[in-house]
Amino acid sequence: MNIIQAYPNNSYSYPIYICSELEYLKCEVQKHLTKFSKVVLFVDSYIEEFKSTDEILSMFKSYNLQDTEVIIRRLKPGKQSKSLQTIEKLAQWLLKKNVQRDSLFISLGGGVIGDLIGFLSSIYFRGVSLAHIPSNLLSMTDSAIGGKTAVNTSCHVNTLGTYKHPIFTIIFTRFLESLPERDILAGFAEILKVSLLKKGDLLEKIRSLDKEKIIAKKTTLMEEILSLSISYKLHFTENDISEKNKRLFLNLGHTFGHAIESLQDLKTEEYYRHGEAVSLGLISCLYLSDKLYHTKNISSVRNLLKTFGLPTKIQNDYLKKLKLSKEELLKKLTEIAMKDKKGKKNRLNLVLLKDIYSPVIYITDDQKIIEQAFEKLF
Ligand SMILES: NC(=O)c1ccc[n+]([C@@H]2O[C@H](COP(=O)([O-])OP(=O)(O)OC[C@H]3O[C@@H](n4cnc5c(N)ncnc54)[C@H](O)[C@@H]3O)[C@@H](O)[C@H]2O)c1
Repeated sequence: MNIIQAYPNNSYSYPIYICSELEYLKCEVQKHLTKFSKVVLFVDSYIEEFKSTDEILSMFKSYNLQDTEVIIRRLKPGKQSKSLQTIEKLAQWLLKKNVQRDSLFISLGGGVIGDLIGFLSSIYFRGVSLAHIPSNLLSMTDSAIGGKTAVNTSCHVNTLGTYKHPIFTIIFTRFLESLPERDILAGFAEILKVSLLKKGDLLEKIRSLDKEKIIAKKTTLMEEILSLSISYKLHFTENDISEKNKRLFLNLGHTFGHAIESLQDLKTEEYYRHGEAVSLGLISCLYLSDKLYHTKNISSVRNLLKTFGLPTKIQNDYLKKLKLSKEELLKKLTEIAMKDKKGKKNRLNLVLLKDIYSPVIYITDDQKIIEQAFEKLF
């Protein structure tokens, strides 16, 4: 078991346990639980029957806690669950169960359950304690780290949210065994993105791998990669939880990626996974970075994304699904991107790379270069 102490110099510092066996973890976790009158485990119902979920739930059920009651609540995964309606329903259920302020909420699932329960824990009786057990690669490497919580409104994603750190996080890598290849690779895109932002061992490690090694999900390799990528995310979020300075760099590829994602209706099945949209976004960013800073990094990053089966071009099927021509899509994507995360004087704050390991915020209101960057995706 590897333990990373998140934000060691802060009052909200907490342990992140990375492991593939629960034997050593069992005592560690028990120490946290005894402080609470109730521990509520919110479990993604899709993964409920999986062996790894069963192992985690059995660990919690096996504790013989005298003054702490453990309660389990199932929740549907998927973006429709990330809503105020679910929050209202859960609050009513918690009240019926007499769950008070001195309780611990634990999310067990992907990014949706983590964001939803993170949000609920920060507002239920003005805040109860939180822990995360992320179950897919995206949530392990990204959404469970950094303290962002949110729910969607009917027309906009992550509209309502808070910042809240957990008291512990468990990265149980055996969850990855049941994860489809496409989700492993889409989650890996976020790892690849963060590796470009800071000098360290991660990019070199990634360069020594290929798609087959990642989808084989060997425990030691995944633990090593996750430990590295989590420490990168902690670096960029430390002392900047509300994204005023270095945390902004984590948005590399996101302005373009979000535009691609946001054309997918909130209620329907997504065409591009978040990580796949980020992969496309990275291509647009690298094109602009090379153009503005006279570097030549796009082909090496493109090759790296291709090595892991990630998209580097928009597929014709996406155009068909949206019933748009290439020109119409370019116009729409540019419009959406121009509205993304506005900086001072309503200009776009774009994360680019002066070079690999050297992120920079480029402020612009030039619609034309944004459109050119999207054009690189065709
Ligand atoms: N808080 C943050 O910083 C942050 C960062 C990135 C994304 N997000 C949010 O994360 C959400 C997306 O997360 P997501 O893609 O994990 O969505 P999700 O939680 O809906 O999970 C996607 C699918 O994976 C399944 N799944 C989970 N674990 C599995 C496993 N071990 N084996 C097989 N299937 C498994 C889920 O049941 C679900 O069907 C979005 O709402 C996004 O806004 C938040």
